[in-house]
Formats: sequence, C-alpha cells, structure tokens
Amino acid sequence: MRLLFLGDVVGRAGRDAVAARLPELIQRYDFDFVVVNGENASHGRGLTEPHYNGLREAGADVVTLGDHAFDQRDTLSYIAREPALLRPVNMPEGTPGRGATLIEGRNGHRVLVVNSLGRVFMNPIDDPFRATEAAVAACPLGEQADAVLVDFHTEATSEIQAMGHFLDGRVSLVVGTHTHIPTADHRILRGGTALMADAGMCGDFDSVIGVDAEEPLNRFLTGVPQNRFTPAEGEATLCGVAIETDPKTGLALRIAPIRHGGVLAQALPDF
Ligand SMILES: [Fe+2]
Ligand SMILES: [Fe+2]
Repeated sequence: MRLLFLGDVVGRAGRDAVAARLPELIQRYDFDFVVVNGENASHGRGLTEPHYNGLREAGADVVTLGDHAFDQRDTLSYIAREPALLRPVNMPEGTPGRGATLIEGRNGHRVLVVNSLGRVFMNPIDDPFRATEAAVAACPLGEQADAVLVDFHTEATSEIQAMGHFLDGRVSLVVGTHTHIPTADHRILRGGTALMADAGMCGDFDSVIGVDAEEPLNRFLTGVPQNRFTPAEGEATLCGVAIETDPKTGLALRIAPIRHGGVLAQALPDF
C-alpha cells in the first residue's frame, strides 16, 4: 500500500496548494490513502466545515487536527458527523468528535488513523502514549487494519521519536506535526515502523512557521503585540511523507519525504 501524509495546512496559501497539487500527487504516485493535518487551514486557526470539505475533495481520506482543533466554533458541531475528521485522542472524556478512525481507502484497504497530542512544551493533556496505544490495540495492524498511521502533534521532536520507538512494530507510520518545520530524520525503525519527527507544513515558508514575519518578529523584539498574526500568502510548499507498506504485515518498506512547490521545493522523490 502507498500512503501519503501531509503536514499542517496553513491558511489560504496551504489550502490552495493542496487543492491544486494533491490530486496530481495522488495520480503520480498512485497513493491508496491520504491523510492531511488541517489544524491551521482556516486563517491559521482551526478548520471550518467548508475548508474541511475542500481538503476532502482534493483527496484527503482522513483529516487530522491538533492543539488548534476547536479554534473555529463550528468544528464543535460538524466533527460529530464526520468519521474522517479527527481531533487528538487524548483530549478529555466528553470532548466532541473522535481521536481514531478506521476508514476504507479507495482500493478497499482498511486504514486506522490516530491523532494524538503531546505534552512537552504543550498545554496539559492526558497521556498520549497510553491513549494512542489503546486506540492501536483496539484495531491491530495485520488484523482489523491493513495500515496504521499515527499523527503525533507536539512541539518536541524527542517526544515524537519516543512515540516511534514505543509503537515500533505495531503501526505503519508515526509522524509528527505542529512545529511546521520538516525534519530530515525519516527512516524505518527496527520493528518496521516508519518515523519522521515532523512532516512540515503545507504553507508559505517565506514566513515564520506560516505567519507573515512582521508581527512575530515584532513580538520577539519588543514583547508588545501590535497586530494579529496573519497567514503568509505566497506560494505554499506541500510538505509531507510518503510510505509504502508490506501487504502482509502492514509495516513500512519504504519512506520518502515530499516537499513540493514554493520556496522549500525539492525534486519529487523517485518513489
Ligand atoms: Fe500547526
Ligand atoms: Fe499545532
């Protein structure tokens, strides 16, 4: 199976790039399943229903969120009727929506996707390790699920690498989101789990993590907020990671980073 994961879509630039280039990537690589993190798609804060629908129409089979999951009020209502939209699994009991979902892809493969939220340099939240493990155990790889993808949304790359080792051999991919900066540590662990500490964002990199540089810079220099943060509107780089899994075990055989278009563009991998 060939799966694609795309990191945090930021604002209009990110949404437009996904709409324009995701269908072309799916065709080029014949991806069976696509997951996109949409936590910053609506003006950098959360995901409205029309923008969620836009990501799905572009080819996302599942859309994940993160600490910005409920920045848009309408998410509280529409998330309940969207099995393909995930908020972190370790949010408190009673939070609307779900943190894990088993979805059948376009070629009939069943893919379990889990979204979880880290705790290092993040707001307090329940243990992501135990919560993610429980979601994976409820739907084991090679039994109910042909592939298992974990989007672990957190600030510290150490925490994501630890999650990779924790789940090694039990899931197809552990990929980090939230920092918006793609890392170069993509690899397959000993047990067969593919790992990348951060997928990077789908946004304009001529910015500070997707935000027009002026106001973040002002705040670092003076500590005094002068304006709101505004998403940068130049051409976005689509950042993510592609994996191929073993049809028998669901574990990873290959992993390749993707940085398509915009200022961070690299040649598309031979994958
Ligand atoms: Fe983000
Ligand atoms: Fe985030």
